[in-house]
Amino acid sequence: MSNITTTQTGAALGAAVSGLDPSAALSEDEKAQVRQAFLDHKVIFIRGQQMSDPELLEFSSIFGEVLYDPRPVDYHRELDTDYPGLIDVVSNIEVDGKPIGALGTGEAVWHTDTMPMPNGALVLHGLEVPDAGANTRFINTAAAYRALPEKLKETIDRKIVIHGRKNYNLVVGEDGEEFDRSQSPGPWVPLVRRHGETGEQALFLGRQADGYIVGLPLEESDAILEEVWSYVLKDEFRWEHEWQQGDTVIWDNRCTVHSRGAVVAGRRRMHRTTVSGEWPSW
Ligand code: SIN
Repeated sequence: MSNITTTQTGAALGAAVSGLDPSAALSEDEKAQVRQAFLDHKVIFIRGQQMSDPELLEFSSIFGEVLYDPRPVDYHRELDTDYPGLIDVVSNIEVDGKPIGALGTGEAVWHTDTMPMPNGALVLHGLEVPDAGANTRFINTAAAYRALPEKLKETIDRKIVIHGRKNYNLVVGEDGEEFDRSQSPGPWVPLVRRHGETGEQALFLGRQADGYIVGLPLEESDAILEEVWSYVLKDEFRWEHEWQQGDTVIWDNRCTVHSRGAVVAGRRRMHRTTVSGEWPSW
């Protein structure tokens, strides 16, 4: 019999899952419960249970196939994990003047995580976390979609977007540099997608500054996306995770966007896996 319990955050998404040891072999029943909590709440977290890399890979496989994602960036992730590409390092720590992981100390803007095929789930495990700050924030884009005015829903119905130059590991140009977003690389995806497992519709947004609705003049695309984001960014659709050492947070990349606060002090070292999803469709 399973001791797993799920406690909702009380916000628009997110739940704590307790009564399990993610580093141990879970029964099929326990895996099914964790998976259902993930689908029901879009983001789940387990407090304070450290995992080794092989344990993290095993735990991540509950949510789908763990993907090989060798992000083409210049940091020393191989210093921190024996599984570069399968486990990505997100960290502000530097060795010999070079970071061991992605993102550094800066704030990460709202985005979805994407590969050539957009991910299903992301699993982020906190090995070292600062006393405060660098919270990971989430928005429920299914709830935000439901709350849009009918007229805006009609406007975006069946629209296709390009998420932008930084998603899909296709970095083009520098931040702030002039760039014709209508020429962004990357796949064309539906702006409103249907979740492959729950059937729920959700906004499918990339980075706020980089999105483009295919076929529209840039100004028109910008105006529509700006209006969509003005609803998405309302407090009522949000929740943020305050990290403790050993926490694991799993989010559904198909119906959320996330961002992260700056690391103002202290060491932060996270191991992250990327799990397969389905090709997005209406
Ligand atoms: C991410 O954007 O995947 C990382 C989030 C975090 O560092 O909290």
